[in-house]
Amino acid sequence: MLRYFTAGESHGEALVAFLSGIPAGLEIDQDFVDRELWRRQQGYGRGGRMKIESDSAHILSGVRHGKTIGSPISLEIANKDWKNWQEALPVGTGDSAKHKRVASPRPGHADLAGALKYNFPEARYVLERASARESAARVAIGAIAKLFLRILGIEVLSHVITVGSVTLNGSVTWENISALHKRDEILLNCTDSEIEQRMKEEVDKVLRTGDSLGGVFEVVAHSVPPGLGTYAQWDERLDALLAAAVMSLQAVKAVEIGSGVAAAFAAGSTVHDEIGYAAKSGFTSFSRPHNNAGGIEGGISNGEEIRVRGYLKPISTLRRPLQSVDFSTREPVKAAYERSDVCVVPAAGVAAEAMVALTLARCALEKFGGDSMAETVRNFAGYREQLKKF
Ligand SMILES: Cc1cc2nc3c(=O)[nH]c(=O)nc-3n(C[C@H](O)[C@H](O)[C@H](O)COP(=O)(O)O)c2cc1C
Repeated sequence: MLRYFTAGESHGEALVAFLSGIPAGLEIDQDFVDRELWRRQQGYGRGGRMKIESDSAHILSGVRHGKTIGSPISLEIANKDWKNWQEALPVGTGDSAKHKRVASPRPGHADLAGALKYNFPEARYVLERASARESAARVAIGAIAKLFLRILGIEVLSHVITVGSVTLNGSVTWENISALHKRDEILLNCTDSEIEQRMKEEVDKVLRTGDSLGGVFEVVAHSVPPGLGTYAQWDERLDALLAAAVMSLQAVKAVEIGSGVAAAFAAGSTVHDEIGYAAKSGFTSFSRPHNNAGGIEGGISNGEEIRVRGYLKPISTLRRPLQSVDFSTREPVKAAYERSDVCVVPAAGVAAEAMVALTLARCALEKFGGDSMAETVRNFAGYREQLKKF
């Protein structure tokens, strides 16, 4: 069973992640893991923090001589900013005069609800953990899940559909998304460069006005076999697992599978993907003229590409802060401001790729099992044969 946890404060010494259940014998490409971390740090509209941090995963356990050994994998991502925070956020008692209080809760963040829940007099400890810095830890273990999936031929990538009021209409092919992924510079991770320029202008506008933006990304999983997830039990449905995984990312407020939102307003005859049969080189010879289902029917992957969209609310920290209340005096004040991104849609897409990859890896391991990669691959090959003969 694939299980994972993360730990770490945004301005603490390091982020930590644990990943248990990856079979023995999977080659770990450190450069790939670090490139995924780099991708999460890119995008037009990021704040100063991204200029300080250049993330790298330091693997502590579960990998020896370049391969997994079936034991839990743990890794650490150092926070380079820690050197500036050692006195403000020490593990020991420290000097309370040096603590950096967050005196007024920021609307849209966990600050107020977290302070009430944990009985903190201010929001420092809340934002330290609620911050999306945590998603870097998920991207690192997600990269390992991607390496695992790659052995089965499954690839997971993302692209940006909407930034603020600018939206890319029409479908985007896997080839378009792969080409985007090869670029050395990530602007807004949109496959259409004209639309991407308009997205950039949207970001420029909020940079000028002290506001922030949200948007929509789409994660695409390519070459997923039919049969991952099941309708047999509610909590084993692949759509439910993916929705929870992507929704768990900071600032994601809605998740859509395929064209689920538009489908709610359309007639069934225009939505459901008709079934044909024509010799082709996929897992089976069944074919679909389109993929409105986003690759999942009845909670099971159906052999088409899996497409999951995440809808992000605008970044909560505003340079022109919203109204709040001082924690101590209860007097009206402007919300606290800390260095912040103004648009993170491409980065959120990368974090969502990690969550989709971890979810698919979990379902693949549940279906194919295996304590070693040799065993998993053999079981997968047997299933492929079964599908061919179906
Ligand atoms: C990759 C990424 C980076 C983010 N960076 C910031 C940031 O710099 N400042 C900020 O206010 N919010 C940022 N956010 C969004 C906040 O984390 C989010 O608004 C906050 O967690 C509250 O959202 P929630 O209610 O969904 O948890 C970021 C989100 C993601 C996915």
